[in-house]
Amino acid sequence: MKIAVLMGGPSSEREVSLKSGEAVYQALLSKGHEVYKLDLSPSTPLDLLSSRPDLVFIALHGKPGEDGSVQGMLELLGIPYTGSGVLASAITIDKIVTKQLLQQAGLPTAPFLMFPRHQCQGEKLPQTLEEIQQKLGLPVIVKAPTQGSTIGTYVVRSPEEIAPALFKALQYDNRVLVEKFLEGPEITAAILGNGEPEVLPLIEIVSHTGFYDYKAKYTPGLSEHLIPPRLPQDVQDEVRRIAKEAYTFIGCRGFGRVDFIVAGGCEPYVLEINSIPGLTSTSLLPDAAQAAGYSFPDLVQKIVDLALE
Ligand code: DAL
Ligand code: MG
Repeated sequence: MKIAVLMGGPSSEREVSLKSGEAVYQALLSKGHEVYKLDLSPSTPLDLLSSRPDLVFIALHGKPGEDGSVQGMLELLGIPYTGSGVLASAITIDKIVTKQLLQQAGLPTAPFLMFPRHQCQGEKLPQTLEEIQQKLGLPVIVKAPTQGSTIGTYVVRSPEEIAPALFKALQYDNRVLVEKFLEGPEITAAILGNGEPEVLPLIEIVSHTGFYDYKAKYTPGLSEHLIPPRLPQDVQDEVRRIAKEAYTFIGCRGFGRVDFIVAGGCEPYVLEINSIPGLTSTSLLPDAAQAAGYSFPDLVQKIVDLALE
């Protein structure tokens, strides 16, 4: 099959995407496909039209590859592509919209507030700072809602740190998400499938830097993936149930990863859903797939097969 791997692009996760794309490219070659790489650029639609692949493997993270834009372009070009479609991608790129929908579905997500830019400026700012402390208490996590790989995310432990964190997050987006900080292990559920998806073995993430940030995510040795997680079986079952429901409720396809904090080691809360999770050598989904018996090339082939179902 002739497959174009779309990678790179302009997002803050460009470097991660280049690594995911290269890994996918090598895996597809090893499976005998005719493969070529395309760094997302303004000329990409024309390149795709002229080269006419049978399928595009979208190995992009962040905007505009993970937010439905590239998916919409491929729909217009009539070229099949891997992963979720336009709507699920547009929902999951935004942590605020995702949390609002999860609440509607009765699925647990940490208490949160959302503030547009104008509420974090001038005379509105003191009221916003007050509301955060009153409704959520400290510590909180301030997040730019459409970023990935922990970019634009700040843990805030004291009142004077709140405003600087809001300003930093607003450098990425026009709204900020402020979430209650829950203590507990970080667990992730990687998922493969369309209508009746398969939840892969759960992973507990242990960061040696204290926080699973960009550096801990992509520097070998700075974090560990524990499979299975150190959680009672009933809590693991609950995480798997919630992950599957969240994925299907939002309408994800192909593959994805639902991230959790398990408060106190017993109460799971969804942090976010990643519609194009990292596929690098230190990433979580490939490890979960390995534990389920899929080599990396088998995983990539499975994602291709699911795109054509
Ligand atoms: N946003 C990164 C790539 C992840 O979720 O793995
Ligand atoms: Mg993410």
